[in-house]
Amino acid sequence: RWLSSFTSMLLARTLGNCDNICEPCVPNFPNGMIVSCTNKSLTKLPDLPYNVFELKLSHNEFTVLTTGMFNKTELVAKLEFLALDYNMIIEIQPSAFWGINKLEHLDLSHNYNLKTINSSTFSPLSELSNLSLTHNSIDHIKDFSFQTQENLKRLELNDNHLSSIDVHLLKPMVQLQILKLEGNPWICSCIVKAFYMWIHEFEGNMTGPSCSTP
Ligand SMILES: *[C@@H]1O[C@H](CO)[C@@H](O)[C@H](O)[C@H]1NC(C)=O
Ligand SMILES: *[C@@H]1O[C@H](CO)[C@@H](O)[C@H](O)[C@H]1NC(C)=O
Ligand SMILES: *[C@@H]1O[C@H](CO)[C@@H](O)[C@H](O)[C@H]1NC(C)=O
Ligand SMILES: *[C@@H]1O[C@H](CO)[C@@H](O)[C@H](O)[C@H]1NC(C)=O
Ligand SMILES: *[C@@H]1O[C@H](CO)[C@@H](O)[C@H](O)[C@H]1NC(C)=O
Repeated sequence: RWLSSFTSMLLARTLGNCDNICEPCVPNFPNGMIVSCTNKSLTKLPDLPYNVFELKLSHNEFTVLTTGMFNKTELVAKLEFLALDYNMIIEIQPSAFWGINKLEHLDLSHNYNLKTINSSTFSPLSELSNLSLTHNSIDHIKDFSFQTQENLKRLELNDNHLSSIDVHLLKPMVQLQILKLEGNPWICSCIVKAFYMWIHEFEGNMTGPSCSTP
């Protein structure tokens, strides 16, 4: 008993305390804190304990991810998992993900008004292994958007408004194993020939897309 209260005191000291967090934090030793703040009408980051390992912000009301918003000492050293699904994100400012370069899992799905991916959005996230962008309204992904994602293993782009994808976007992702593209209004013309050549060489698994035209 003494040992367990000593241990929790030690954890509170080293990992910070969770007094102001939406739901009680769960320490995941030695990784860090699991912070869950889902469905709380949040529009900005709540106060966080130190050493956050997993941050769940699903089902909130974030509309803009602002420059440097995750660039905080509580997050930068450890954050591996970030969920922002089911928000209302329409804009991701340059360097919004600055600092959290240990991130491996990012869920940006179900932000129904997210239309574009800008070139530098994911550039700080070179450790990313799993990226979900499903059920948004993405119709355009700018050149070089996945340029630093050489560790990405799973990319979910299904259920968006993409009519094609430029192979130059896919090429840097040399570790890719799963690519989901179903549920897009794909246009099957010679423009996508390069894409089919890429698929031919791709050794992972791909789902979709099926053609909407011609
Ligand atoms: C969010 O919370 C409200 C009540 O506060 C509840 O009615 C709703 O079902 C919750 N939504 C989710 C996705 O958990
Ligand atoms: C991130 O934080 C560091 C240290 O506080 C600072 O020097 C840097 O300018 C910040 N970058 C951004 C994009 O906010
Ligand atoms: C992409 O960049 C443009 C121009 O800087 C900006 O207007 C737009 O909101 C950005 N897209 C997202 C999803 O942030
Ligand atoms: C990636 O995320 C999806 C959806 O959250 C999950 O089902 C899957 O297990 C994750 N994959 C890896 C390799 O962690
Ligand atoms: C790809 O799919 C095949 C057959 O469904 C499965 O055996 C294999 O494990 C999958 N590979 C990956 C990387 O998920």
